[in-house]
Amino acid sequence: EKGGHDYFMLKEIEEQPTAIADTLRGHLVDGRIVLDEQRLTDQDLRDVDKVFVVACGTAYHSGLLAKYAIEHWTRIPVEIELASEFRYRDPVLDRSTLVVAISQSGETADTLEALRHAKDQKARVLAICNTNGAQIPRESDAVIYTHAGPEIGVAATKTFTAQVAANYLVGLALAQARGTKYPDEVVREYEQLEAIPAAVAEVLESLGEARALGQELAPSKAVLFLGRHVGYPVALEGALKLKELAYMHAEAFAAGELKHGPIALIEDGLPVVVVMPSPKGRAVLHSKLLSNIQEIKARGARTVVLAETGDETVRPFADHLFELPAVPTLLQPLVATIPLQVIAAEIARARGYDVDKPRNLAKSVTVE
Ligand code: BG6
Repeated sequence: EKGGHDYFMLKEIEEQPTAIADTLRGHLVDGRIVLDEQRLTDQDLRDVDKVFVVACGTAYHSGLLAKYAIEHWTRIPVEIELASEFRYRDPVLDRSTLVVAISQSGETADTLEALRHAKDQKARVLAICNTNGAQIPRESDAVIYTHAGPEIGVAATKTFTAQVAANYLVGLALAQARGTKYPDEVVREYEQLEAIPAAVAEVLESLGEARALGQELAPSKAVLFLGRHVGYPVALEGALKLKELAYMHAEAFAAGELKHGPIALIEDGLPVVVVMPSPKGRAVLHSKLLSNIQEIKARGARTVVLAETGDETVRPFADHLFELPAVPTLLQPLVATIPLQVIAAEIARARGYDVDKPRNLAKSVTVE
């Protein structure tokens, strides 16, 4: 059942190339991006002048990435908020606001209530969901389904990367509706997304390396994660996986904040995972992160670095280096997250915990 794996989560981690490919499939028709369900007009989409993304947990981390892509492609301002926070303040919404609700189960109470609140204020709602016929897509004006298949592991893995792919489809659909990208540019972005499953498969080839590192890190008391730009949500997701599965204190920081506090936490032997941007795609950020690695290394951190293949600049400062295939900047999270999922699962296993059913957690939280 687990396909020869020690736990379902590992099988689900390995299913990510398929989950992403299946989520993308069928969304480019005659050179145009199409949604799965659309109960609003193209004019409604064109009129969108503000986007709110609401979600919980891992889905929220995928939503953070939606902000980078949608703003970059459409120039529409995007806010991303935890569903449980959004609902209890007084967000400014009207009929030209699009609220994107992301939920694997489609039943999460906080996300559903946030959606209802948005609809009461006349906002349009688009759902990203992995479950056909669930409440959240049923109550939405438009839907993109992630086709990750059922996820047994309580901690989300393949549904996360599928959500990221779906978020990007939303960004491209909006760019197309608004005309902020030419049709051939939209097609080109879509094709770059289509190349991601192969890149993820490449990362999965070094799964053994991530598992071995997980075993080594298992006795650690805490792990820190650093990232910047799209690497920051990756760091947050890496830390969340570790809390959920290994019950370990894990915290992620935007690397630019290092000097404003977190550097005080660095002590001898503390593992710090750093998500490096591409030296070509994001040269300025790359050099800033490179100095961050030097700073933490000088203070005794045990550095685990995820960097683009061929990025030799980091090697002298990396106690452990994971090489990632070169992909466009916005898509890097889809490859960078994979080793972090495996490391968290392996630490949990090495500690003797049930990877698929972590204590105190439920797959879907239907109470507020
Ligand atoms: C949880 C799950 O508590 O709910 C997480 O354990 C998940 O894995 C979160 O990310 C949100 O769930 P959903 O179904 O709305 O995506």
